[in-house]
Amino acid sequence: MRNRLGRECLYVPSCRLGLYVALRHWCPPGARVLMSPVNDDVIFFVLLAAGLRPVQAPLRPEDGSIDMAAVPESVWRGLGAVLTTNLYGNPDPAPELRARCDQLGIPLIEDAAHAIGSQTAGQPVGSFGDVSVFSLSKHAGAKTGGFLTVADPALRAGLERARDEFLEPARLTAELAYGLRPYAEAGVRGLRLVGAARATLRLLGLEERQDIRMELRPGELKQALAAAPAPALEDFHSWIRVDMHDYRLRPGGLRLRRTGRLLRRLESRLEAHRAGALRLSATRWALPRPGRPVQPLFRVPLLVEDRDAAITALARHRMTTGYLYDPPLDAYAGEVFTDPSPAPEAAAWFARHALPVDPLRAEAAISVLTELGARPATPPSGATATQPPVRGDRGV
Ligand SMILES: Cc1ncc(COP(=O)(O)O)c(C=O)c1O
Repeated sequence: MRNRLGRECLYVPSCRLGLYVALRHWCPPGARVLMSPVNDDVIFFVLLAAGLRPVQAPLRPEDGSIDMAAVPESVWRGLGAVLTTNLYGNPDPAPELRARCDQLGIPLIEDAAHAIGSQTAGQPVGSFGDVSVFSLSKHAGAKTGGFLTVADPALRAGLERARDEFLEPARLTAELAYGLRPYAEAGVRGLRLVGAARATLRLLGLEERQDIRMELRPGELKQALAAAPAPALEDFHSWIRVDMHDYRLRPGGLRLRRTGRLLRRLESRLEAHRAGALRLSATRWALPRPGRPVQPLFRVPLLVEDRDAAITALARHRMTTGYLYDPPLDAYAGEVFTDPSPAPEAAAWFARHALPVDPLRAEAAISVLTELGARPATPPSGATATQPPVRGDRGV
């Protein structure tokens, strides 16, 4: 990863913990941080845990990237940092954000969880920020781990100490569960018991998300935020661990060996993602984007009129749709916990219509959507983004 990005890298047990370490290092308590409202809610809670105030950005309706031109000057001037998302691997406008952050004297933090292998302006996503954080659970498929990469190599040792402060000691049971999980999952899939397994979890009250968004629990959240002298990671554990209870566990040998094996196959994995993304972006559910290179997307956000019907049809063919972020975070959490976007329409439209398709299942997904007669969604004119400046590969 150091060779790929040309920067020092540091292993973290999850991208969320890496982001927490980065936010704590780069942002003073109480700083306002511009972020995307179409994002995993876990990341929203990571910001709150770091003692920061999330500020929701306007987005471009075609890919959910940050629409810089729609951010009012007054909002820019109040910011202490910018956090990108690079949703599904589509890059945020990193060179322009870098320039703006430099002008304001604030850090740019890149969440590159979805964007291993994506490029913008001829450079890898993750090579623009003061710090960038990647997830190895996504493209690499390791279901654990991530890494943090820094522009200034002198900071690495200090960040390593900061990371270690938050690690929990390795546990044999967690390591065994990690080792056995792929076999257990394959067994459940092979026996066609996925639906039954989910229903059992629901019955036992063990399902963490009844809906796309986890339950907010505003009363408890207010209490966690009020903890003196400052909010602590422990107080936010129940929100941040969702979908990954081992997010701060020191890795054991088994985890690291499997991750290493998967990383050695990363190039071919990225090529397969790129081929699937190319195939899906030529369908009628993808907006034409001339002049943009095809990225090895983690998911391809097809835009469909009746997204729920498409999800149901895909599920009937044993394709689970994950990584849905609807409603946007400002609608989900409200003004008590976040500054709302000054122009929320495009984000709301994108969140409602984006169907994140796994490019490794491109052909199967296309057949299902064709059979269903899924209609493509077109952005309403009110939700059209402000045109970005033509620059590098972002030009149209
Ligand atoms: C945009 C985004 N950032 C960060 C994360 C967190 O990654 P990890 O699960 O490695 O902590 C996720 C998880 O899905 C994500 O979707």
